[in-house]
Amino acid sequence: MEFGELIKKRRSCRGFDKTPVSQKNVDDILEAAQWAPSPLNMQPFQFITITDTTIKAQIQKIGIEAKQTVIDNNGPGWVEKYPMGFVADSPLIIVVVYDPEKGGLGNYFGMPHGALQASCAAVQNMMLKATELGMDSLWFTFFEPAGLRPILDIPDTLDIAGAILVGKPAMATKSPGRKTPRVHKEKFTHQ
Ligand SMILES: Cc1cc2nc3c(=O)[nH]c(=O)nc-3n(C[C@H](O)[C@H](O)[C@H](O)COP(=O)(O)O)c2cc1C
Repeated sequence: MEFGELIKKRRSCRGFDKTPVSQKNVDDILEAAQWAPSPLNMQPFQFITITDTTIKAQIQKIGIEAKQTVIDNNGPGWVEKYPMGFVADSPLIIVVVYDPEKGGLGNYFGMPHGALQASCAAVQNMMLKATELGMDSLWFTFFEPAGLRPILDIPDTLDIAGAILVGKPAMATKSPGRKTPRVHKEKFTHQ
Protein backbone atom coordinates (compact mmCIF):
# COMPACT_ATOMS: atom_id res chain seq x y z
CA MET A 1 0.00 0.00 0.00
CA GLU A 2 1.26 3.48 -0.85
CA PHE A 3 2.42 5.27 2.32
CA GLY A 4 0.09 8.28 2.08
CA GLU A 5 -2.83 5.92 1.59
CA LEU A 6 -1.71 3.80 4.55
CA ILE A 7 -1.61 6.84 6.87
CA LYS A 8 -5.18 7.76 5.95
CA LYS A 9 -6.42 4.17 6.10
CA ARG A 10 -5.38 3.74 9.74
CA ARG A 11 -8.49 4.25 11.81
CA SER A 12 -9.24 3.93 15.51
CA CYS A 13 -11.39 0.84 15.87
CA ARG A 14 -13.85 0.28 18.71
CA GLY A 15 -15.31 -3.07 17.68
CA PHE A 16 -13.17 -6.06 16.71
CA ASP A 17 -14.11 -9.49 15.49
CA LYS A 18 -12.65 -12.51 17.24
CA THR A 19 -10.16 -13.57 14.53
CA PRO A 20 -6.85 -14.15 16.35
CA VAL A 21 -3.78 -12.20 15.27
CA SER A 22 -1.14 -14.63 13.98
CA GLN A 23 2.19 -14.81 15.77
CA LYS A 24 3.89 -13.70 12.53
CA ASN A 25 1.75 -10.57 12.49
CA VAL A 26 2.46 -9.91 16.18
CA ASP A 27 6.19 -10.25 15.49
CA ASP A 28 5.99 -7.89 12.49
CA ILE A 29 4.09 -5.28 14.52
CA LEU A 30 6.65 -5.45 17.33
CA GLU A 31 9.55 -5.20 14.91
CA ALA A 32 7.96 -2.06 13.42
CA ALA A 33 7.71 -0.64 16.95
CA GLN A 34 11.36 -1.31 17.69
CA TRP A 35 12.42 0.69 14.61
CA ALA A 36 10.94 3.89 16.07
CA PRO A 37 13.33 6.77 16.71
CA SER A 38 14.43 7.29 20.31
CA PRO A 39 16.81 9.68 22.07
CA LEU A 40 20.37 8.31 21.78
CA ASN A 41 18.72 5.21 20.25
CA MET A 42 18.07 4.03 23.82
CA GLN A 43 14.89 2.20 22.74
CA PRO A 44 13.28 2.72 26.16
CA PHE A 45 10.10 0.79 25.35
CA GLN A 46 8.97 -2.74 26.19
CA PHE A 47 5.84 -4.56 25.15
CA ILE A 48 3.40 -6.84 26.96
CA THR A 49 1.32 -8.91 24.52
CA ILE A 50 -2.03 -10.07 25.86
CA THR A 51 -4.46 -12.59 24.40
CA ASP A 52 -5.68 -14.17 27.65
CA THR A 53 -9.43 -13.60 28.04
CA THR A 54 -9.26 -13.17 31.82
CA ILE A 55 -6.59 -10.49 31.59
CA LYS A 56 -8.44 -8.69 28.78
CA ALA A 57 -11.58 -8.71 30.94
CA GLN A 58 -9.59 -7.21 33.82
CA ILE A 59 -8.38 -4.42 31.53
CA GLN A 60 -11.94 -3.78 30.43
CA LYS A 61 -12.98 -3.66 34.09
CA ILE A 62 -10.50 -0.87 34.92
CA GLY A 63 -11.79 0.90 31.81
CA ILE A 64 -15.33 0.72 33.18
CA GLU A 65 -14.07 2.03 36.52
CA ALA A 66 -12.30 4.97 34.81
CA LYS A 67 -15.47 5.72 32.87
CA GLN A 68 -17.46 5.75 36.10
CA THR A 69 -14.90 8.12 37.65
CA VAL A 70 -15.42 10.53 34.74
CA ILE A 71 -19.21 10.30 35.11
CA ASP A 72 -19.07 10.75 38.91
CA ASN A 73 -16.95 13.88 38.42
CA ASN A 74 -19.35 15.49 35.91
CA GLY A 75 -17.16 14.78 32.89
CA PRO A 76 -18.47 15.16 29.33
CA GLY A 77 -21.91 13.60 28.83
CA TRP A 78 -20.92 11.46 25.83
CA VAL A 79 -18.74 9.35 28.10
CA GLU A 80 -21.85 7.57 29.41
CA LYS A 81 -22.32 6.11 25.93
CA TYR A 82 -18.69 5.04 25.47
CA PRO A 83 -19.06 1.30 24.73
CA MET A 84 -16.00 -0.20 26.58
CA GLY A 85 -17.28 -3.75 25.89
CA PHE A 86 -15.02 -3.97 22.83
CA VAL A 87 -11.90 -4.05 25.01
CA ALA A 88 -12.31 -7.63 26.23
CA ASP A 89 -13.39 -8.71 22.72
CA SER A 90 -10.27 -7.44 20.98
CA PRO A 91 -8.09 -10.39 19.95
CA LEU A 92 -4.80 -8.76 20.92
CA ILE A 93 -3.74 -6.04 23.34
CA ILE A 94 -0.16 -4.79 23.37
CA VAL A 95 0.66 -2.66 26.39
CA VAL A 96 3.61 -0.34 25.79
CA VAL A 97 5.71 0.49 28.83
CA TYR A 98 8.88 2.52 28.99
CA ASP A 99 11.71 3.52 31.27
CA PRO A 100 11.35 7.29 31.85
CA GLU A 101 15.04 7.42 32.82
CA LYS A 102 16.00 6.47 29.25
CA GLY A 103 15.02 9.77 27.66
CA GLY A 104 18.45 10.85 26.46
CA LEU A 105 19.94 14.19 27.45
CA GLY A 106 16.67 16.12 27.72
CA ASN A 107 16.67 16.23 31.52
CA TYR A 108 19.58 18.67 31.35
CA PHE A 109 17.68 21.30 29.34
CA GLY A 110 13.97 21.09 30.06
CA MET A 111 13.07 18.40 27.54
CA PRO A 112 12.40 15.52 29.92
CA HIS A 113 9.87 13.39 28.02
CA GLY A 114 12.15 11.70 25.49
CA ALA A 115 11.24 8.16 26.57
CA LEU A 116 7.51 8.87 26.31
CA GLN A 117 8.01 10.58 22.96
CA ALA A 118 9.92 7.56 21.64
CA SER A 119 7.20 5.25 22.94
CA CYS A 120 4.57 7.27 21.09
CA ALA A 121 6.60 6.91 17.89
CA ALA A 122 6.73 3.16 18.53
CA VAL A 123 2.95 3.08 18.98
CA GLN A 124 2.39 4.89 15.70
CA ASN A 125 4.70 2.45 13.91
CA MET A 126 2.71 -0.44 15.39
CA MET A 127 -0.61 0.99 14.33
CA LEU A 128 0.57 1.69 10.78
CA LYS A 129 2.01 -1.81 10.52
CA ALA A 130 -1.28 -3.29 11.72
CA THR A 131 -3.06 -1.31 8.98
CA GLU A 132 -0.63 -2.58 6.38
CA LEU A 133 -1.38 -6.12 7.57
CA GLY A 134 -5.11 -5.59 7.02
CA MET A 135 -6.09 -4.92 10.62
CA ASP A 136 -7.33 -1.97 12.64
CA SER A 137 -6.13 -0.79 16.02
CA LEU A 138 -6.86 1.54 18.91
CA TRP A 139 -4.52 3.46 21.18
CA PHE A 140 -6.45 2.92 24.41
CA THR A 141 -5.70 4.97 27.53
CA PHE A 142 -9.10 5.05 29.24
CA PHE A 143 -7.90 3.48 32.50
CA GLU A 144 -5.99 4.46 35.60
CA PRO A 145 -2.36 3.34 35.20
CA ALA A 146 -2.26 2.34 38.88
CA GLY A 147 -5.06 -0.11 38.12
CA LEU A 148 -3.19 -1.71 35.21
CA ARG A 149 0.08 -2.22 37.08
CA PRO A 150 -1.03 -5.07 39.36
CA ILE A 151 -2.95 -6.80 36.56
CA LEU A 152 0.19 -7.06 34.42
CA ASP A 153 2.79 -6.97 37.21
CA ILE A 154 4.41 -3.85 35.71
CA PRO A 155 7.38 -2.65 37.80
CA ASP A 156 7.12 0.80 39.41
CA THR A 157 10.21 1.90 37.49
CA LEU A 158 8.33 1.76 34.18
CA ASP A 159 5.58 4.09 32.93
CA ILE A 160 2.69 3.16 30.64
CA ALA A 161 2.27 4.73 27.18
CA GLY A 162 -0.97 2.94 26.42
CA ALA A 163 -2.69 -0.30 25.54
CA ILE A 164 -2.85 -0.93 21.80
CA LEU A 165 -5.81 -3.03 20.71
CA VAL A 166 -5.29 -4.83 17.42
CA GLY A 167 -7.49 -7.00 15.25
CA LYS A 168 -9.87 -7.23 12.34
CA PRO A 169 -12.65 -4.64 12.60
CA ALA A 170 -16.14 -6.00 13.23
CA MET A 171 -17.60 -3.21 11.13
CA ALA A 172 -16.30 -0.40 8.90
CA THR A 173 -14.57 2.26 10.99
CA LYS A 174 -15.55 5.88 10.44
CA SER A 175 -12.98 8.53 9.62
CA PRO A 176 -13.35 11.63 11.81
CA GLY A 177 -11.46 13.70 9.22
CA ARG A 178 -8.86 16.33 9.90
CA LYS A 179 -8.45 20.09 10.10
CA THR A 180 -6.17 21.90 7.69
CA PRO A 181 -2.67 22.07 9.22
CA ARG A 182 -2.01 25.32 11.13
CA VAL A 183 1.35 26.38 9.80
CA HIS A 184 3.42 29.43 10.73
CA LYS A 185 6.05 30.56 8.27
CA GLU A 186 9.44 31.44 9.78
CA LYS A 187 7.94 32.59 13.13
CA PHE A 188 4.79 31.95 15.12
CA THR A 189 2.00 34.27 13.99
CA HIS A 190 -0.03 35.61 16.95
CA GLN A 191 -3.60 36.53 15.98
C1 LIG B 1 -2.59 9.19 23.29
C2 LIG B 1 -3.94 8.76 22.74
C3 LIG B 1 -4.86 8.19 23.60
C4 LIG B 1 -6.10 7.74 23.11
N1 LIG B 1 -6.96 7.11 23.98
C5 LIG B 1 -8.12 6.64 23.51
C6 LIG B 1 -8.99 5.90 24.37
O1 LIG B 1 -8.71 5.67 25.53
N2 LIG B 1 -10.15 5.45 23.86
C7 LIG B 1 -10.50 5.67 22.55
O2 LIG B 1 -11.58 5.21 22.15
N3 LIG B 1 -9.69 6.36 21.71
C8 LIG B 1 -8.52 6.82 22.15
N4 LIG B 1 -7.67 7.46 21.29
C9 LIG B 1 -8.01 7.54 19.84
C10 LIG B 1 -8.49 8.92 19.39
O3 LIG B 1 -9.78 9.14 19.87
C11 LIG B 1 -8.44 8.93 17.85
O4 LIG B 1 -7.12 8.76 17.43
C12 LIG B 1 -8.99 10.25 17.28
O5 LIG B 1 -10.36 10.40 17.57
C13 LIG B 1 -8.81 10.30 15.74
O6 LIG B 1 -9.43 9.18 15.12
P1 LIG B 1 -8.58 8.21 14.18
O7 LIG B 1 -7.52 7.55 15.04
O8 LIG B 1 -9.56 7.17 13.64
O9 LIG B 1 -7.96 9.01 13.10
C14 LIG B 1 -6.44 7.91 21.74
C15 LIG B 1 -5.49 8.51 20.89
C16 LIG B 1 -4.25 8.92 21.37
C17 LIG B 1 -3.25 9.51 20.44
